[in-house]
Amino acid sequence: MTTNVLLLAAGEGSRMLSDTPKVLHELAGAPLFQHALSATADLDGRRVIVIGHGGDAVRKAADKLDERILFAEQTKRLGTAHAVTTAAEALAGAGGDTLILYGDTPFIRAETIRAMQDMRSSGADIVFLGFEAADPARYGRLVKDGDRLVKIVEYADASMEERAITLCNSGVVLAETETLLRLAAAVGNNNAAGEYYLTDLPVLGASEGIVTKVAICDEAETLGINSRADLAEAEAVFQQAARTAALENGVTLVAPETVHFAHDTVLGRDAVVEQFVVFGPGVTVESGARIRAFSHLEGAHVSRGAIVGPYARLRPGAELSNDARIGNFVEVKNAQIGEGSKVNHLSYIGDAAIGDGSNIGAGTITCNYDGVFKHRTEIGKDVFIGSSTMLVAPVRIGDEAMTASGSVITKDVPAGDMGVGRGRQENKNGFARKLFARLRAAKAAEKG
Ligand code: UD1
Ligand code: MG
Repeated sequence: MTTNVLLLAAGEGSRMLSDTPKVLHELAGAPLFQHALSATADLDGRRVIVIGHGGDAVRKAADKLDERILFAEQTKRLGTAHAVTTAAEALAGAGGDTLILYGDTPFIRAETIRAMQDMRSSGADIVFLGFEAADPARYGRLVKDGDRLVKIVEYADASMEERAITLCNSGVVLAETETLLRLAAAVGNNNAAGEYYLTDLPVLGASEGIVTKVAICDEAETLGINSRADLAEAEAVFQQAARTAALENGVTLVAPETVHFAHDTVLGRDAVVEQFVVFGPGVTVESGARIRAFSHLEGAHVSRGAIVGPYARLRPGAELSNDARIGNFVEVKNAQIGEGSKVNHLSYIGDAAIGDGSNIGAGTITCNYDGVFKHRTEIGKDVFIGSSTMLVAPVRIGDEAMTASGSVITKDVPAGDMGVGRGRQENKNGFARKLFARLRAAKAAEKG
């Protein structure tokens, strides 16, 4: 059955005290709204985001993620049911079911959504997702009769007995699209907040024989982010789970609590990650590779047996072949490093390709930027680049070629040749001794 997703994200997020819309704040390197959507990857229907405050920025970010995402604008924030009605046009003719998620609730799991779908197929017309709250605080309370959900009472409208209920509303709902839109449009705002509550659905539906049930998830899945403190807490929760998953998948983390993952980090079995390593988005580390201490990786691919760091930085487009070595204080960006090739010390390799078996000496820099354009450096296989070579791109170094240390290479070096691009050395006989003597005499004279 087609299932559409409607992500509510029009909230102001005022408690974030931010110029950035709340759902664009990042968790594990991805905006919050992306986390909620990632649990719905298996669903085949439309994806609609209800935007309000800062809507243009959200639209842009969502477009970048998936240009098929649709948007509904809620200009006045009149409540969750009202937010749903704003999506009527975007969902028109979509058919099937629609799942409502919140953009600021990142930990919802695909398994939980499947459990809700199972309830739908076994006879429930509307399924709300509830959880047993350790501290029910201001959540909406779920009032059940047998396995039926009779009503949901918002905290502000709840009686003392209702407030004693610990089964709470997560806000996630699954229902037939037509039913959902029709009932949401019928919701009134006669309540303490004067808002149009989506939580009125069970009562409205019951009057026409619609059956509402509750699926249950862990409270952890419903963690919503309202403040910077919530965001930091969510980050800690995410990191802890990512570390545990890595260890369970056969990755060695020497000091797990010091390793920081992104939402999409992939580490192969028998990869080793040493202390204080940060993974930005888009990193894959294959089996048996080792990431040494204090390294920072983003948008990089590290193949089997490669060693990175300590103190290395891999930026987007860094592509390391098997057994490559990237050593201390080396930065690699948009560059392929061939099998077994080494860039071991103090170098910048950007917009470059290095063949197999080449050695790049300490302090080598690919001068890729002329202030306006970026240019490429092509280095062949079994090349030896002498220490402190400046490779002024665009430039090519052929297979089995060399450059002399300290060269500024501005012309291609053909295969098998040596490029020397530096002043010729001249030794001035006895000059140093004479110069020292003169300088020391001057200093003694100064002291008097
Ligand atoms: C809502 C539920 C409550 C539940 C709680 C769980 C209602 C009436 N109440 O309350 O039962 O326990 O979530 O966290 O549904 N939003 C819009 N447009 C609006 C209003 C809200 O897009 O006009 C979005 C918000 O950005 C947010 C979500 O809907 O992502 C929930 O809104 P929020 O104001 O946090 O609802 P709560 O009062 O927390
Ligand atoms: Mg809330």
